Amino acid sequence: MACSESHPVYTHAAVTAASNVASGVRKLTVSYSVPDGVSPIRPGQFFMLKAEPSGTLLCRPISVYHAETVTPDTAAVEFLILKKGTGTGELCTLEAGGAVTLIGPVGNSFPQPERGPVCIVGGGIGVAPVAGFAESLEKETYDFYACFKTGSYGLERISARTLTVTTDDGSRGVKGMLPAVLTVRTLREKNYGAVYACGPEPMLAYVRDICAEADVPCYLSMEARMACGMGACLGCTIATTEGNKRCCADGPVFPGSIVRFPLPQEATRRGSCTDGAEPDLSVTIAGVRFANPVIAASGTFGYGGEYGELADVQSLGGICSKGLTLEGRPGNSGVRLHETPAGVINSIGLENPGIPHFIAHELPQMLALKPVAIANLSGSSIETYVKGAQLLAGTDVPMIELNISCPNVKAGGMAFGLDPCSAADVTAAVRKAAPRTPLIVKLSPNAPDVVAVAHAVRTAGADAISLINTVQAIAIDIEKARPVFANVRAGLSGPAVKPLALRLVYDLVQSMNRLPQRERIPVIGLGGIATWQDAVEFIMAGASAVQVGTATFADPLCMKHIIEGIGNFMRRKGYRSLDELRGAAQTE
Ligand code: SIN
Repeated sequence: MACSESHPVYTHAAVTAASNVASGVRKLTVSYSVPDGVSPIRPGQFFMLKAEPSGTLLCRPISVYHAETVTPDTAAVEFLILKKGTGTGELCTLEAGGAVTLIGPVGNSFPQPERGPVCIVGGGIGVAPVAGFAESLEKETYDFYACFKTGSYGLERISARTLTVTTDDGSRGVKGMLPAVLTVRTLREKNYGAVYACGPEPMLAYVRDICAEADVPCYLSMEARMACGMGACLGCTIATTEGNKRCCADGPVFPGSIVRFPLPQEATRRGSCTDGAEPDLSVTIAGVRFANPVIAASGTFGYGGEYGELADVQSLGGICSKGLTLEGRPGNSGVRLHETPAGVINSIGLENPGIPHFIAHELPQMLALKPVAIANLSGSSIETYVKGAQLLAGTDVPMIELNISCPNVKAGGMAFGLDPCSAADVTAAVRKAAPRTPLIVKLSPNAPDVVAVAHAVRTAGADAISLINTVQAIAIDIEKARPVFANVRAGLSGPAVKPLALRLVYDLVQSMNRLPQRERIPVIGLGGIATWQDAVEFIMAGASAVQVGTATFADPLCMKHIIEGIGNFMRRKGYRSLDELRGAAQTE
């Protein structure tokens, strides 16, 4: 590989070979056409890669492990990919015949040594770029140290004077980590001209420190999250003695002498369970016990029976009914659903059979199920909310969720939920109409100050708050040059709204925590929850329970998987009960 300037290409490349080289590590060979005049890849450079098709937006930076020119206009590049998250997970499922989106090569390269011998250090997946660099050196002019947790990989082309492998578990080479085989003394005795390293941050910090003490220049290949790989997003800057440097455009290879390592990370929090006891997933909200914190969100699960054949309905913590109004409603005309890349926009318009019909027909079915039945109450005026609440209060329904957040009706709904005073008025009236029925109030993210609305309904008598309902959104039919929905605006739900929902839950819990304990009320989080990890995020933000909506449309079993996932997570982390998990990520 020559050391001339190289220019990145953006292209689609074919996967020509794929194999697993270790647990969670896949080797991919991809081949792509190199446009005229584009120079070869230099050792230390990387590509931005994404599987095709992919569920992720961004490509992932992956170092070149080996590159060769197959024909004058075709390059073949080998990557070692460690499965870390969704993007790398998708890449790790690719087989020969698959395809990737590829941007690169990008970044600088390891400088060639001024004198040998040199020392090369790779830790885990960090072996890939330094192994690529080793190939550019004369045989046996370097010593290679490779450190792994278990086993080894990526060493087949190493022609070192000495190859030293360490493993944490002793399964290969020396048992231990880099300090077991490379110290200041080793650097001095071997009289290395330079050290080149890539691997986990603590290992790089160690290499930097021993090199400084032994007065040997070192070059570290750094890793960072990035969006573009082109120096534009500034997401990958690292702190150096010369100010911030972009890992992609100024690096990834930096002189170790300038890198400032972040302070050690705070220790991971764990729960108090050390005896392997089964975690308790139950939660009590306003005196009502839920077997687990996962509740089917209103409007996405009918009245429970609709999913009876498909989902494990009995395993849920609770089920919220479709939004109910005093009188039955036919709902909105025109388009009612519109899919977006990360969600769904709906304009159902509260189609429902009316509360008397619900009480006579749907409620008995809901009450016969194990999950807590929650009646979602909507209305067009305070009077209709009150009459509906009175009717529901005369039944065995264990909870009411007061819906002041539906964006799809002309009267009532969200109109009550945007302003703290009107939200408090309707809450107080419903509280009075159903004095003994636990009352959740479901809030809209479209209010200018959602936290103020939450505290207004809390002081007006709400027992709990659920948030968020859908985010007001628009879609346009470009062929007709018209809005897709008859009401123009509709409600967006799904993964797109999750970070916004999480922020609002976090903010509300934070403000709740500033109140005396007796004034606080539980918060139920919803908005884009599709996985157990999403649910854990909401609980760690302080939610007492979560509701799952849009995700059920795509995967009717997702709530079952979320419940199982929360339990497994709690078991793994030693959380005895949800109380230990709840609010764990609150910083105040
Ligand atoms: C609808 O029926 O239009 C949606 C219900 C809601 O957002 O509460």
